Order: sequence, then structure tokens, then C-alpha cells
Amino acid sequence: MMTAARPSGGRHSPVSETEDPRLLGRTVKRIAFDQKQIAGRVRELGAEITAAYPDGDLLVLGLLKGSFVFLADLVREIQRPLHVDFLVASSYGEAMESNGLVRLVYDPETDLAGQHILLVEDIVDSGHTLNRLWDLLAERRPKSLAICALLHKHIATALRHPTRFIGFDAPHEFLVGYGLDHAENFRHLPYVASLQ
Ligand code: IMP
Ligand code: MG
Repeated sequence: MMTAARPSGGRHSPVSETEDPRLLGRTVKRIAFDQKQIAGRVRELGAEITAAYPDGDLLVLGLLKGSFVFLADLVREIQRPLHVDFLVASSYGEAMESNGLVRLVYDPETDLAGQHILLVEDIVDSGHTLNRLWDLLAERRPKSLAICALLHKHIATALRHPTRFIGFDAPHEFLVGYGLDHAENFRHLPYVASLQ
């Protein structure tokens, strides 16, 4: 019989399996951003985005899989009409990832021409993924193109385009939860934690 998970509460102490049955027997080093912090920041981002797009069609494009939780919360905080679609990108493999070669596995059917495109990403690390996606999307002549990332590690020396909306500056640690995974685990944690 599993006990209910305790709320994360912003503690910076280890969370063990007995406290959170979602953790697969692993422990996380600390909770970097708890549910309350995330909800508050997502609300602010929603307001920023609402104010930034006074007119025109807005298409919020979530980059799967990592953005799915963030995107679901974010769009509900944007107080204007919008459409939602998704992109699935895949790198060709380890060796080529460092060269930033990314291909689209799922491509939105929507015509991007003339629309404001807001690309939503979970975390910006090296920036290679976003560099490549930016080029792919820019070719389709959107009215504007901007990036919104929940987390930004600020180590992306190769990043050619600004991240206009950033949730949190991320610590330089491997983070999981709220959509982010490690080997497909931990995406469903309602908080962002650093893996031990
Ligand atoms: P980039 O091309 O190096 O910026 O890679 C970004 C992608 O790598 C993100 O969309 C994540 O899927 C993954 N990633 C980067 N850092 C982390 C992390 O700390 N935890 C989980 N996934 C990460
Ligand atoms: Mg990932």
C-alpha cells in the first residue's frame, strides 16, 4: 500500500522513496523548484506573454516530450486567443548532437506563415536543439518567432537566438520532473528536482 506523497514545500533536503513513491527507489539531491514556485512563475509568464502579443494569431508550439507539463499549465495562464500544436525533434545520435543536427519527427500541420509562433521548451542547455528548430521554423515565414523556456542553464555559448521568456535560471545540475526526464523517468513529478 503506497502512502500519498508529501507536498514538496521547497525543502532543500533529500526526498526519499518512502516520502515520494514516484521516485522509483531513487533519491533526488534536492528540490530546485517546488510546485508553488513553479505555479507562481508560470502565472507571471502567462501575463508577460499575454501582454507581449496585443494582436495577431498566436500559435504555441510545444517541443515534445519535455514541454508537455509546462505547456499545459502555461497556456491556461495566457489570456488571449491561441492555438496549440507540437513539434517532435530528434537528434541523429550522440556524435551528431554536438553538431546540432536535429530532425523533425512530427511536424505541425498548421501553416505557420503570418502567425506569431511561440516555441515552448523545457530547458535550454547547449542550445543546439533550439538553434536548429529556429532555422526550420523561420523558413516558414511566421509573423514572429520567440522562445519560451521553463529553465535556462545559461551555458549555451552556441545559442544564436535569444530566449525571450524564461521561467527560471537553472542550476548547472541534471534536473528532472515537471516534464523533464532521465531515461524517460520522473516526467510526472510536480516539482523540478536535481538528481543525485
Ligand atoms: P540542448 O540542445 O543541449 O539545449 O538540449 C536541450 C534538451 O536536452 C532539453 O529539451 C532536454 O530534453 C534535455 N536536457 C538538457 N538538460 C537537461 C536536464 O538537466 N535534465 C533533463 N533534460 C535535459
Ligand atoms: Mg529529454
